[in-house]
Formats: sequence, structure tokens, C-alpha cells
Amino acid sequence: MKIGIIGAGDVGQTLAELWIQAGHTIILSSRHPETLSDVLQPLGSSAKGATVAQAAAEAEILLLAVSYWTVDEAIAHIAPHVDDKIVIDATNPLRYAEEGGTERVIGDQEIAGLVMANKLPNARIVKAFTTLWTGYLKQHAHRQSPQIAMPLAGAKADTSIVADLIQDAGFEPVDLGTLADSRPLDPPSAIWNQVLTADELRARVARTQ
Ligand SMILES: NC(=O)c1ccc[n+]([C@@H]2O[C@H](COP(=O)([O-])OP(=O)(O)OC[C@H]3O[C@@H](n4cnc5c(N)ncnc54)[C@H](OP(=O)(O)O)[C@@H]3O)[C@@H](O)[C@H]2O)c1
Repeated sequence: MKIGIIGAGDVGQTLAELWIQAGHTIILSSRHPETLSDVLQPLGSSAKGATVAQAAAEAEILLLAVSYWTVDEAIAHIAPHVDDKIVIDATNPLRYAEEGGTERVIGDQEIAGLVMANKLPNARIVKAFTTLWTGYLKQHAHRQSPQIAMPLAGAKADTSIVADLIQDAGFEPVDLGTLADSRPLDPPSAIWNQVLTADELRARVARTQ
């Protein structure tokens, strides 16, 4: 597939590499695409840089991987180009806290996937790749059976497509249901940043319901 990645940082670069290894084509974007040559060079001819709007317009499917405090700016650029397109939302609703660490920037009762669906009502949002630190992605991709689990949530027709991309990246997809069911993908949760097999992940989610 031709995958547009919005945000060329840790998550964007890590998944670009894993998806290129699986045969996909990547359009990598940031607010400063002119600075991406060092990132693009090791990815080879299957990757190119673009503006956010160009990536959104040209790609078949998008990965949103920007810091949450800049997400509205990214959304303003992609919204005109995502009618009926799947947007994989890897963002976490976090900011750096003054006292150190991070804190949630959405209400305790809110679910990040639903917040994103409100921000981008013309897109098909699938929440995925939020729970694992990129160091774990690099360390555990394509691990021998049992593979490490990657939870996702969204509409069934869309999660089946994203599940294939999770497998291509080297993880076992675990579909948790619709966006309304996606709270475990948001921090803090019993599965957030936990390296788990699919059985372990399902058991932890079940214990919290
Ligand atoms: N790091 C992890 O292990 C991890 C794991 C799971 C989920 N996440 C989530 O994934 C998101 C990205 O995390 P990250 O660690 O990859 O961040 P990061 O390393 O700081 O990279 C963010 C990237 O997004 C670009 N960017 C920022 N604002 C943008 C905008 N409005 N439009 C387009 N590009 C923009 C930045 O480049 P410019 O400044 O040049 O635009 C940079 O390339 C966050 O929401 C984070 O919570 C992170």
C-alpha cells in the first residue's frame, strides 16, 4: 500500500522502516519536509518526503504520529484529503507535565479515539500503535511465536485492513472493538506500554471490564 505518515519522529520512522521491509511505499511528512533527507536516505527508494497535505492527498492510508499538542495543526492540513480514508491514529493525548513526566490532556472520561473521530469526522479512524514504546517495536518486531500483541480499535471493515499492516510490521493484531471500546489503548491503562502476547493482553483487558 501507499502509506502516508504524518509525523517523521520516533513512531513515524520506526513504522516506515518496518512497512518498507514488508513491501509498502511510504510518504513521510512533517512540518519541515525539507529537513527529512537524513531520515529518508536509509529508507531507500520506497520512501519519499512530502508536505503534510501532499502525503494526505497521495496516500491510500494515513498514520497520524505527531505530538498531541500539535495535532490540530496536522488535522487542519489533512482534513481536506481524508474523505472516507483510513487514518491510523497513533497519538496519545499527553503533554509534558511541569513537575516532570507526562499528563493526560483529555478528560478522564473521554476516549482518545472518539475525540479524534470528532476532530476528523470525514475520516475512518482506527486507533493503533499507541501502546508500545518505539524501543519495544524495534526490539520485538517479527519475534518468533508467540509474537507480541498490538491492540487496535475501530470499525470492523477498517480494523481488518489495519490488522494486516500490524502483521506486516511484525506484531499480532488484537482487535478490541469499536472506538467506543478503545479506552485500553489510552494511557494510563493495564496494557499501555506493556510487552504482552495476545492472550496476556486479552486477559488484562477482560480483568478491567
Ligand atoms: N515515541 C513512542 O514510543 C510512542 C509510542 C506510541 C505512541 N506515541 C505517540 O505518537 C505520537 C508521535 O510520537 P513520537 O515519539 O514519534 O514524536 P516525535 O519523535 O517528537 O516526532 C514527532 C514528529 O511529528 C512532526 N510533527 C509535529 N507536529 C506536526 C504537525 N502538526 N504536522 C506534521 N508533522 C508534525 C515532527 O517534525 P516537525 O517538528 O519537523 O514537524 C516530528 O517529526 C505522539 O502522539 C506519541 O504520544 C509515541
